[in-house]
Amino acid sequence: MDNSGWRIRRPARGCRLSGVRAADISEDLSHVLYTAEELSTRLAAIAADIDRDYAGKDLLLVGVLNGAIMVVSDLSRAMTKHCTMDWMAISSYGSGTKSSGVVRILKDLTTDITGKHVLIIEDIVDTGLTLSYLVHNLASREPASLQVMTMFRKPDAATTVVEVAYVGFDIPNEFVVGYGLDYAGRYRNLADVATLAPHIYS
Ligand code: PRP
Repeated sequence: MDNSGWRIRRPARGCRLSGVRAADISEDLSHVLYTAEELSTRLAAIAADIDRDYAGKDLLLVGVLNGAIMVVSDLSRAMTKHCTMDWMAISSYGSGTKSSGVVRILKDLTTDITGKHVLIIEDIVDTGLTLSYLVHNLASREPASLQVMTMFRKPDAATTVVEVAYVGFDIPNEFVVGYGLDYAGRYRNLADVATLAPHIYS
């Protein structure tokens, strides 16, 4: 494929945005939805909102493994207020790539969140079933407040509505990879977010 139309150029080695860029694996991808630079700009705006909304409060970020690793890492460093972090790992039973909403906790929080201000961080809300379970589960532990931030949301895929306080981008119902989003475990460390070429998954 001719890469001349791609919007990405590899920065000099040592730059924070070097690494796997969409142009490097263009044969695996259909098109770029958001460049690393666009993701960074959007995250900075959300971080400023969170700084403002939680001013004077202790904030615990709860990242949902594995996909949210990149978001928590970059969001927390774009914020200017202190925060603490904890992680949950969950498994969703379903057929193929579709989640069923039946969720099992593989790794629970190490933190007692009772009385704390908690912000769940997701990479993507697809059907909303995983998040719905998480919100109900964590709410039962009686935090002082419980909100959600997700980098991506697919409104057309939603089967249940969950309130999300901070959304990076609403995206079409397509198979996207990069910035924590994987296909068969791959592409999480792609710096950009792109749709996967059909020949990869068909
Ligand atoms: C993804 C994502 C969300 C969930 C969203 O996790 O991180 O947790 O799916 O899907 P839903 O809205 O349809 O419930 P996944 O199970 O793929 O695990 P991963 O984060 O390890 O990739």
